[in-house]
Amino acid sequence: MKKEKSSTEIDLKNKPFYLTTSIAYTNAKPHVGHAYEAVLADIIARDKRAVGMDVFFLTGTDEHGSKILRKAKEEGVSAQAFVNQISQFFKDLYEKLLISNDDFIRTSDKEKHWPGAQKLWDGIVASGDLYKKNYKGFYCVGCEGFITEKELVNGLCALHGKAPEVIEEENYFFRLSKYAKVLEEKILSNELTVLPEGRKNEILSFIREGLEDISFSRPESSVPWGVPVPNDSSHMMYVWCDALSNYITGVGYGRDKKQFDLLWPADMHIIGKDILRFHAVFWPAMLLSAGLPLPKSVLVHGFILSEGKKMSKSIGNVIDPEEYINEYGAEAFRFFVAKEISPFDDGDFTKQKFIDSYNGNLANGLGNLLSRTVAMAEKYFNGNVVPHSPSSVPFVKKMTSPAGDQIMEGYGVSYTIEQEIIPKYRECMDEYRIHHALDSVFVLIKELDGYITDYEPFKLIKTDKEKTEDVLWNILYGLLVISKLISPVMPETSKIIENTITGDITDNEPTAFSVKPLEKPLFARIIN
Ligand code: MSP
Repeated sequence: MKKEKSSTEIDLKNKPFYLTTSIAYTNAKPHVGHAYEAVLADIIARDKRAVGMDVFFLTGTDEHGSKILRKAKEEGVSAQAFVNQISQFFKDLYEKLLISNDDFIRTSDKEKHWPGAQKLWDGIVASGDLYKKNYKGFYCVGCEGFITEKELVNGLCALHGKAPEVIEEENYFFRLSKYAKVLEEKILSNELTVLPEGRKNEILSFIREGLEDISFSRPESSVPWGVPVPNDSSHMMYVWCDALSNYITGVGYGRDKKQFDLLWPADMHIIGKDILRFHAVFWPAMLLSAGLPLPKSVLVHGFILSEGKKMSKSIGNVIDPEEYINEYGAEAFRFFVAKEISPFDDGDFTKQKFIDSYNGNLANGLGNLLSRTVAMAEKYFNGNVVPHSPSSVPFVKKMTSPAGDQIMEGYGVSYTIEQEIIPKYRECMDEYRIHHALDSVFVLIKELDGYITDYEPFKLIKTDKEKTEDVLWNILYGLLVISKLISPVMPETSKIIENTITGDITDNEPTAFSVKPLEKPLFARIIN
């Protein structure tokens, strides 16, 4: 469900948890990596809301630079018309994917973005951290950046396989080198937390190798599509001040002080591994220079690979998220990336893996458990399941004693859920190990399946109606807990479960559940 709450409606007493995705380049339509990052951020946003926090979630698009200008020219449209169209593709995709962002910032937005980007520039100037220098370098349009001679392979950009342009121009430079020590301290002490630990170490070694000042502008004559440098119309901001500043302009910097003071600093920037330096070094240095507080954390996710390889047009393995969403639904897409891909590592996306996970977990696992339980509740109890003594029908676990004989041990269903499943889930979610949090949900689904196998309510009904009702009550209770736990990942599925089973699952005395028939199976099996 799209969250409609706007920033002005946010409770002004509590500082909301402010999280962002990176802003995607608008040089091409979104691919699966963009969809992944948005889903990851959305799951975190929804989980924070679920535990009662106010949240402000920002995403957007990065719309300037020579590559975009070139693309627009190729298509024979103005740069603005071009980015309007691509930005809309991103908005449409995020809407389809049920991304609950509170706002969407576009760097070509002259009202919302430019004043803040220029104010940040002025703040950096005031610290004496910008100077002009003649610069000669290799510029790769694909990278949208300068590369050093060392990085060239046979004279070509290693990433794009193209010869860079040799550019000689006068640019503004930012004194990044000045901030090496303080950045190292802040990252080491976790004042600026970089997650996971491996990425923190990576960025610390990068800083320790020494930081060079960075080019901060391009001449207007060579890149006319950008945010103009204040008081110097011959220059346009280079990506850093133009794009990274979205995180502050998106929450009012330079136009709405009240909103900015409420929301900044960001609690979390969610980004991919390729842009770690920009977020954990360049961006905090710029903020320090301008006298602004630093974001609290940067969560760095891995890359989605396609059939084990980096996606590329030439290999022809680029995954279009829309294909999956249109065919299997947004919830199935969200589930796959959340369950099967560790946020902190690269993860492989293949059609077969998608189908196997869907069939195994959603069709045969969750969907089947729900439909069997609902069917029995209707058939045996007309959809009204009253508890008698549900804790007396525990999970039965078969264990082997040291002497080798089987012993049966029972743990109440609600006891297992409260003591084992929920704490494990919470621990994983709080550490952003979303895939592990979902694993604990699927342990519960498996245990509930085993519970049906152990008690055979479809046979038990013939001899003990009350016990059968308690068995079903326990499963319905479990399903409502599952519904809550999966809601950040599959909000619509969660709603369907809660429309199907109504009742109270708080700690109070157990109350009756009323069960409605399912209109259709929750997840129909994919036949392939
Ligand atoms: N515009 C810059 C970010 C500026 S933030 C101030 C940019 N754009 S991007 O479109 O190239 O990438 C957007 C995000 O998608 C980045 O976090 C990037 O890491 C992520 N991904 C790009 N390809 C990806 C995969 N194959 N898999 C997962 N995420 C990937 O960088």
